Amino acid sequence: MLVLAVKYISLHNEDDIWLSEYFSHHGINFTGSSRNVLRFDSNKISAKLNLANKGIKTAEYFMAVPRQYKCANELPIKFPLFLKPINAANGNGIDDLSFVTNYTDFESKVLSLYNTFNSPVLVEEYLDGQEFTVAIINTSSNELIVSPIEIVPPKSKNGLRILGRKVKKDDSEELKSIEHDEMKNKVRKLAIDSFLALGVRDFGRIDVKANKTGDCFFIEANLVPGMIFNSSYFPKACKIEHGLAYDKVIQLILENGLARVKPKVPPNKANALGQ
Ligand SMILES: Nc1ncnc2c1ncn2[C@@H]1O[C@H](COP(=O)(O)OP(=O)(O)O)[C@@H](O)[C@H]1O
Ligand SMILES: [Mg+2]
Repeated sequence: MLVLAVKYISLHNEDDIWLSEYFSHHGINFTGSSRNVLRFDSNKISAKLNLANKGIKTAEYFMAVPRQYKCANELPIKFPLFLKPINAANGNGIDDLSFVTNYTDFESKVLSLYNTFNSPVLVEEYLDGQEFTVAIINTSSNELIVSPIEIVPPKSKNGLRILGRKVKKDDSEELKSIEHDEMKNKVRKLAIDSFLALGVRDFGRIDVKANKTGDCFFIEANLVPGMIFNSSYFPKACKIEHGLAYDKVIQLILENGLARVKPKVPPNKANALGQ
């Protein structure tokens, strides 16, 4: 069995090789999700569309390219807005300028994201509440081990708490257990519903954000989540919520994949065993 730790390999002047597709094609067992499901990780809009169609709450959004909208009145959603790349991770492209309250700042961040990532920009309603992430493992007995935690980014000089590239790099965010049971249950349920609706296999991490009222929204699915010892959110969430040690987390995320391996008994052994 192989452990899927990267989504694809980039080749010079050729199409990327998506490892899950390659493995499936060659009958090789691997951990994690299929190529089709990994699309939801790579394209935040496809995940949002899929979930919104199934009645799962995700932030209102639209897409924008530079100069598409001529003034604030033309924008489909009112300020404040939050701007980010459709296909990026690790907080790339996300900083205080993602939070936008007027047309000039809107156009300027659309332009910079468009130029950097060469694709339309994802514009969402700004959610001004707590932030959460939920690690989910599907065990071989088909039970879900769900670890919801709260993430508290430090306050920026503009008074914002955003999990952008710099915060993630500096490791300056605080990870903690969710205090209120009602909130924990809400976050947990939203994450499980999203995990199942997207057809995620083995494990995944779902990001969730609340508004001031406490309503929770799906933000994104991380389907090849970081697993770095002492650093990544996934193993840290399992530790905070269930006291799971790192080795145990790794064992659990491999369990389902290993259960898929058909026991292969060589023919001579099979005879000796009377099979
Ligand atoms: N609609 C939103 N409203 C407020 N903050 C948001 C919104 N979307 C994202 N953020 C902030 O930006 C961070 C990164 O967004 P996310 O979509 O998870 O991208 P990444 O793939 O880089 O983790 C979130 O963790 C959150 O702090
Ligand atoms: Mg995220």
